[in-house]
Amino acid sequence: MHFSFETIPTFVWVFIAIYIVHWINKPRLSKNEPPMVSYKIPIIGHTLDYLFNAENFLAKCRQQYGDPFNIYVFGQVTTIAGNEFAHEVYRSDVFSKESASQDSFPLHRVLKILEYPETSDQFIKTVREQFVAKLPLYTGRMQKQLMISINKEIGDCSNPKLIITTNGIFSSIIARPIADTLVGQEISKNEDVVKAFADFTKDFISILRHVITLKKHLKPVLEKRLKDKEILGDKYEPPLDTIEYLLNDPEYGTKVITDDYLNKICEFVYVIVVASIFTSAHHIAFALYDFAGRPELWDDIYEEQERIDKECNGELSPQHINKMVKLDSFVRESLRTGGSALMHIPHKCLESYTCKNGMTIPKGRMVKTYLKDIHYNATAYGPEPRSFLPYHGLENKFPATKIDKNYFVFGSGKHACPGRFFAVNEIKIGMHKLILNYHIKTPSGKIEKKVHLGPLTLPPVAGLIFENRKK
Ligand code: HEM
Ligand SMILES: *[C@@H]1O[C@H](CO)[C@@H](O)[C@H](O)[C@H]1NC(C)=O
Repeated sequence: MHFSFETIPTFVWVFIAIYIVHWINKPRLSKNEPPMVSYKIPIIGHTLDYLFNAENFLAKCRQQYGDPFNIYVFGQVTTIAGNEFAHEVYRSDVFSKESASQDSFPLHRVLKILEYPETSDQFIKTVREQFVAKLPLYTGRMQKQLMISINKEIGDCSNPKLIITTNGIFSSIIARPIADTLVGQEISKNEDVVKAFADFTKDFISILRHVITLKKHLKPVLEKRLKDKEILGDKYEPPLDTIEYLLNDPEYGTKVITDDYLNKICEFVYVIVVASIFTSAHHIAFALYDFAGRPELWDDIYEEQERIDKECNGELSPQHINKMVKLDSFVRESLRTGGSALMHIPHKCLESYTCKNGMTIPKGRMVKTYLKDIHYNATAYGPEPRSFLPYHGLENKFPATKIDKNYFVFGSGKHACPGRFFAVNEIKIGMHKLILNYHIKTPSGKIEKKVHLGPLTLPPVAGLIFENRKK
């Protein structure tokens, strides 16, 4: 061993540097905070457990520390809200998901419209009045668009065909009906527009390109509609879609299509694309893998779809969709067990908050909802809450859209997802058509494993085997 004089100060400096970094990043807790889960390595904290072993790690913390508890990840203290505390977070205005998402993902830099707080109300209103209130009127169009997508993306499978599902195939399937509802029947036929919607959340790098694509196609359509309206007056028959709704809105309406106006409408449309396509695509993928891996359910669910298909002669009405009770229950269960351990969107605490149990959450703290703790609840789902209970919703009369204390996939309270009726409808129609047309299997013949990425869960990557049903 020989230390030169130089190496000694180097050690000291490294030590001081680590100490300072640690001091800067040291989790600072205020009084009466939720308990901090203990950790051994400074700076790193729980980051490794969070990245590589999230489900077990969180379950252990929950058992040992109760609810809520604090963890230290990526140099930041995060409060984890389980079954008890999450309901409080969703009920209080002190916790804001808008503020949290601005911090964690700067989408508002590109979609400027997100910087204005009042637009959030306009989105919610638009989804309620356009997507949900008019849902029955969209049923016919939705199934037509879904069939176009299915034929294009899956097509003829006279011989069994392995379909790769990791390349955005479900986004493409889901994007078409959403494009139809958002920008209308003229433009949603355009493959560039459908692709711009489907890819929007896949490559954020190309966001600006996607906005330009939509602007280009939207301009002539909006101009024509304004002109028609002027010429036809009362005889003008307004098309049913979101851009028409916005054109007639007191705040979003216009008499001339300027570039600013086009930007505003395009951004508005893309915010709804972000909220709707990725989530729906994700969950239809989970649902198909759940179905494909469980042969014991195939006949029962197929029978229901076949009976309804005969009844409606292939043209579903809202009443027929309501009759898909087994499929609805299956989808609900897939939504309950498919989601991530933690909810994707965190909430930020806007001012110091005292919980019912007396603990204090300091201003600025990020709070993440521990979805699995809410969903895997033995009181609500019996002794094995982690198992797949396809008819739990049917037996208990809980439709897939109904929010409940232990069914939190759409959030809860006044900010619960307003698009859930649309989403569940779309997933059900898509599943109905797929199950009617194809036998769907997993390559292994068993339930395929989901992919875990830190606390997030993604659909399996094995692919699905489709084979035409003989009619
Ligand atoms: C399976 C598909 C979907 C899932 C799992 C889902 C889930 C959620 C969740 C968890 C929230 C946030 C609740 C919260 O943290 O406060 C939310 C909010 C929202 N979702 Fe969805 N969503 C889906 C589909 C859709 C669709 C299709 C639309 C639009 C047509 C939509 C529009 C919105 C909007 C506008 C909000 C904001 C509501 C508010 O802040 O008051 N979502 N969604
Ligand atoms: C299950 O959920 C109910 C209602 O939210 C709650 O009262 C109960 O404590 C939960 N059980 C467990 C084991 O978390």
